[in-house]
Amino acid sequence: MSSKTISDRVEALLAEMTIEEKAGQLTQYFYFGGLPDPEPGTEIHVVPSKMRAYVEAQAKIGGVGSVLFVRDAAELNRLQKLTVEGHRLGIPLLVGYDVIHGFKTIFPMPLAVAASFEPAIAERGQSIAAKEARSIGIHWTFAPMVDIARDPRWGRIIEGAGEDPYLGAAMAAAQVRGFQGSDLAAGENVLAGPKHFAAYGASLGGRDYDEVNVSDSELHNVYLPPFEAAVKAGAENFMTAYMGVNGIPATANKYLITDVLRNEWGFKGFLVSDANAVFNLITHKFAKDKAAASAAALNAGLDMEMAMIESGYAGIPEAVANNEVSIEIIDDAVRRVLTAKAKLGLLDNPYVDVERSQKVLNDPAHRIAARESAEKTFVLLKNEKNALPLDAANLKSIAVIGPFGDNKRDLLGPWSFAFDVNETISILDGIKSRVGAGVKVEYAQGVAHERRIHPSIFDGDPNNHVNDPADFNEEVEFAKAVALAKISDVVVMVLGEQQAQIGEQAARSTFELPGRQLELLKAVAATGTKVVLLMQSGRPLDLNWASENIPAIMNIWYPGTSGGAAIANTLFGDISPAGRLPITWVRSVGQVPMIYSRHVSHEPHNSDNRYWNEPGSPLYIFGHGLSYTNFAYSDLSLDKKALSKTDSLNVDVVVTNTGNRDSDEVVQLYIHQRYGTAIRPIREMKGFKRLHIKAGESANVSFVLTPRELRYWNAAVKGWVNDSTHFDIWVGGSSAAELHGEFEVK
Ligand code: BGC
Repeated sequence: MSSKTISDRVEALLAEMTIEEKAGQLTQYFYFGGLPDPEPGTEIHVVPSKMRAYVEAQAKIGGVGSVLFVRDAAELNRLQKLTVEGHRLGIPLLVGYDVIHGFKTIFPMPLAVAASFEPAIAERGQSIAAKEARSIGIHWTFAPMVDIARDPRWGRIIEGAGEDPYLGAAMAAAQVRGFQGSDLAAGENVLAGPKHFAAYGASLGGRDYDEVNVSDSELHNVYLPPFEAAVKAGAENFMTAYMGVNGIPATANKYLITDVLRNEWGFKGFLVSDANAVFNLITHKFAKDKAAASAAALNAGLDMEMAMIESGYAGIPEAVANNEVSIEIIDDAVRRVLTAKAKLGLLDNPYVDVERSQKVLNDPAHRIAARESAEKTFVLLKNEKNALPLDAANLKSIAVIGPFGDNKRDLLGPWSFAFDVNETISILDGIKSRVGAGVKVEYAQGVAHERRIHPSIFDGDPNNHVNDPADFNEEVEFAKAVALAKISDVVVMVLGEQQAQIGEQAARSTFELPGRQLELLKAVAATGTKVVLLMQSGRPLDLNWASENIPAIMNIWYPGTSGGAAIANTLFGDISPAGRLPITWVRSVGQVPMIYSRHVSHEPHNSDNRYWNEPGSPLYIFGHGLSYTNFAYSDLSLDKKALSKTDSLNVDVVVTNTGNRDSDEVVQLYIHQRYGTAIRPIREMKGFKRLHIKAGESANVSFVLTPRELRYWNAAVKGWVNDSTHFDIWVGGSSAAELHGEFEVK
């Protein structure tokens, strides 16, 4: 549809709407399709069946612009029909959903995909997720989550790209491209909604939803760059965060929404609040009533509210009547929502072909892509004496031990909803099918599945957790696991956190392995059988003992539907792991927050000495990750020794695979500004490239540093600056890269 036609149609609809209908267009309701009501007596207060009845009644009177949480094509067709045919304006619903890392086919968690250091992997995964979701009538995802996270106590660290703004920006842009594709009306893509604008990851103490106090310098240099990259990549939507940023709720934050997002970055799409966040301006003790809450959000630049039954936007008519917000502002917001519907082609046809959707959802190519993605994400933290890969030809028996060894649901990670758990390949299944009948593969759980009751409504979905049988006896199972280890040639131990222990509302104040997992690891290791440890984790769980006593440790994150196959291919060397840590792996929770890009202190030689009780360095650094070969870096060349502030610098390096296995390598470039008009980080990543290099071969890798990579936001001048200074530059395989060069900016 041409933009002229789009705007004509939008204006024609707008001219017909009452103020109540405009408020309705700006309201998105949870629908909770297919979710059972909670058992009487539980803590959960949301009743999905009531929500559904309410939303349907509202739809018929033009009271709903959008719904979220429906995952069935036929149900969505029915809802669209009752909305379109039930009301004189006939405006279809915009359907949103948290498609975070896959829809039916679950891809690795976003933090895992960031560990691939390969944005193309993120783009491909999200384009498949978009295709599946769109096939059933979903038009919009609340993703990517692009919050920089530097405090792993915060469970939502798993939803983003980790601690680094440069990596975060690359992953943000790639995901937006993947979700949105090039033609939103073609029925294969969805609107992307980067979230949570802004700085949600800086919540105090890593406690979810707690306040954020962030300096201007951190805001611009660290937290905002991924959002800006998402706008540049064409994101059509943004979601505001729940909490206050320096005391002003993000949802009513005019500086962030209007000054930065719209005016400075030129964002043209629409914004939605996080769940209930307009209404919550009242509970947040910011707005006195619904009219004031509506006015505060709309005047700041917000468009839509995501709501439960208590919608804050129910106060819009009163706010307009009291002149708290102008009708022009309301109209602009409605225009933006209607424009999104028109761009998606919904004004012509909001229905989907249910049969076609089944084919799309079950496309075997999607499971293969999920496996290939997962294979890119594993981070081999330690591999003493080439403990990995395993050689299947020399093994007679393998013991898979631990609560996540034969566990399908937890392998998918949080923020997975429309999956079919039965098609998930567990680690046990993956290993069995990789080694074939010639090797005996046996499983022992060892310790209980400590069930965490998650406070969200989704805890009510029985598909969401793995329960032990009522007669599960941990003593007996523990002993069985140790006995199995004793008689096996090798143990593949799978430990970590279950999916409900990380994600939203899953902050944690310790990083110990939950339950008796460490005790089990120690007992299994004491048998003398070689142990390979797989960590299913999205935060730096305590690996102090393991790092000294277990020869091989690989972090597998939450690898998704085809995870078990990807893991088996990696364990047995068909694939060389090459993922890198997108977060600093601390030794203890007391070190948090700890990042690689800290500022140099006045006493740089002493920086590893900050605690008297343990080293001031982390256990594993940012960018760390081994593979089954080694790489050497040489011939670093810069095309200039000195450049002006508007010049770019070309950087070339030779990377050689010096081992005897083909492998990917993640080449990383870091800079450091030696002096200037502010103190700058000790190192900052400003380039990375993942490439495949065959054993014995070399590759030339080139980077370009533009003035943008060399600039930073300076608190003294309250703006971006490029200083006249000298820079150090390093290129290598981690944030400890050693190959060094230097240049001057005049
Ligand atoms: C989360 C958002 C999510 C929304 C809808 C909120 O609690 O913060 O990230 O998109 O729920 O599920």
